[in-house]
Amino acid sequence: MQVLSVTPEIFPLIKTGGLADVTGALPIALAAKGVTMRTLIPGFPVVMAAFKKKKAVYQYPLLQGGKASVHAVQIAGLDLFVLDAPHLFDRPGGPYGNASGRTAGQLRRFAALSQVGGDIAGGAISGYQPDIVHAHDWQSAMTLAYMRYGKAVGVPSMMTVHNLAFQGQFGAGIFGELGLPAVAMALDGVEYYGGVGFLKAGLQAAWAITTVSPTYAQEIRSAEFGMGLDGLINMRASDLHGIVNGIDTAIWDPQTDKHLVSNYTAATLEARAPNRAAVEERFGLDRDDSPIVCVISRLTWQKGMDILATVIDGVVATGARLAILGSGDAGLEGALLAAAARHRGRIGVVIGYDEGLSHTMQGGCDAIVIPSRFEPCGLTQLYGLRYGCVPVVARTGGLADTIIDANEAAMAAGVATGFQFAPNNGGAMLHAIARLADAHANPAAFETIQRQGMKTDVSWDRSAEKYVGLYRLLLSKRVA
Ligand code: ADP
Ligand code: GLC
Repeated sequence: MQVLSVTPEIFPLIKTGGLADVTGALPIALAAKGVTMRTLIPGFPVVMAAFKKKKAVYQYPLLQGGKASVHAVQIAGLDLFVLDAPHLFDRPGGPYGNASGRTAGQLRRFAALSQVGGDIAGGAISGYQPDIVHAHDWQSAMTLAYMRYGKAVGVPSMMTVHNLAFQGQFGAGIFGELGLPAVAMALDGVEYYGGVGFLKAGLQAAWAITTVSPTYAQEIRSAEFGMGLDGLINMRASDLHGIVNGIDTAIWDPQTDKHLVSNYTAATLEARAPNRAAVEERFGLDRDDSPIVCVISRLTWQKGMDILATVIDGVVATGARLAILGSGDAGLEGALLAAAARHRGRIGVVIGYDEGLSHTMQGGCDAIVIPSRFEPCGLTQLYGLRYGCVPVVARTGGLADTIIDANEAAMAAGVATGFQFAPNNGGAMLHAIARLADAHANPAAFETIQRQGMKTDVSWDRSAEKYVGLYRLLLSKRVA
């Protein structure tokens, strides 16, 4: 089975969040199940710099305002189609430049990526015909519209929602720039509240819709989490599936991880100590026996970082120390830096994005707190499980699906892997961190929780199986 995946980002080439981890790991997991996944990505400067032999397999004299070509390459074990379109992608400022997704630059970039996805699905590249096309988030969602209104109408398609908050909405005036037939500008097409909605169009055209956890799949059917799309999502409920993400257990392995000062297993938890010391050093924390709770996150409203900032003095009062790595809203960065200045030795903050440091933190901290307001899946709690860095999470989306709260019954049964709190407010978060600190004071009980987490299967194996099952279901719906 040949699947074409279309995505704006892929690890290890270009990553702004969990989407890249998922699109980078899924092809490898699927290969083990006999599915060949090729991935179409934009030719951002870092991507173009990653391969030498540039031989186009398809050329566009004109694509969204300039010349473009598609290159078939293998990088880091991934089979890629790279869309080289310098007028669109050869610019500074990260993949999304202006994060709102509303600028003309965003429109053209991702309309082009999607158009190329649709063309490849329709057989543009000789010798390559995908059986299924799998699009991720709004940046590639229009692929499914180009397929539906073009040659690839009979090719099964899947739309995976990693985050409903980003939808790619544009004014009606841009419709003419998309090169779609007039019939597409309809309620059951790409039209959305009088304008054009990229994600909406993908949700409408997809043969199947998936999101990255069963709980989030339920949540987005409600007005509270549906971000305006709950009506459409409910209409398509029979084609909606929640499949929890796995992680790449070769990259995230405390036994071999090169970013760690000291490697360890569930049987050698004491070997986490040098990593812990490295975290204390890097974050300027006191050296003592109190738990180090970390944050590795985009600093945004979604991630509940404002809630943490509000009760941060209370966190210090539980006796725990905080190591925070993140970047995002300037206001939140400022609030966290101010808290660190107020609580020298108890709170350390590093503003920025640092992949290596994130590994060291998982390998050295005692807990990771994730107070998200909504969380389609979340990956950092899965890394936490694998590294014995106990997750303390808001009970929402994928966080609710992947962590077993250390309540009395779960402790007695020996199945607890972390701490959950709900509702998501400062009081509940503080209570959960206090429970964590209490548990940490009892090393035997705490190590049981750590080991149980490390035993949890967070690999892609079962989830990849579920994707394969869905791909097969879609193939069976093809008209012969
Ligand atoms: P989201 O994609 O919504 O940001 P996820 O939990 O799915 O959330 O994925 C976030 C990914 O980005 C994880 O791999 C996490 O380790 C990484 N990450 C987030 N912030 C940072 C940071 N400041 N430095 C390094 N890695 C980070
Ligand atoms: C999004 C979500 C996150 C999820 C990731 C990968 O960024 O916010 O919860 O883990 O996509 O699916």
